[in-house]
Amino acid sequence: MNLKLSLLVSAFFLYASQTAFSANLAHGKDLHDANCQSCHASLMGGNPDSIYTRSNRRVSSIDGLKSQVTRCKTTVGVAWPDDQVQDVVDYLNTNFYKL
Ligand code: HEC
Repeated sequence: MNLKLSLLVSAFFLYASQTAFSANLAHGKDLHDANCQSCHASLMGGNPDSIYTRSNRRVSSIDGLKSQVTRCKTTVGVAWPDDQVQDVVDYLNTNFYKL
């Protein structure tokens, strides 16, 4: 394979993997916003996302975040397979926790 072609191929794979990641984030946001916000809004005086950024927040590791999403998901009663839990974890971590 010549150099130009291999650069083109790597650029394509880089682009494809980034696109897949942002699709997962968008999916995580949709799942989150549809199922998780109203209860957090009532806990946090109408500002649901502040539960993730408050100074005394509970979650301090990726494993902890995944456990909490799994716990709250059970409370909501949605049957998300592991990849959907992961999309929500990625969405929350990218936008709020940055662990
Ligand atoms: C029926 C109410 C309710 C619903 C619905 C709910 N949660 Fe929660 N969530 C809570 C409560 C209560 C806490 C803990 C608040 C505390 O400890 O002060 C919490 C805390 C959290 C935290 C940790 C915040 C921190 O302090 O770091 C995460 C993450 C979270 N929820 C994710 C979710 C996700 C994802 C969903 C949707 C699947 C969801 N929650 C739906 C009630 C709910």
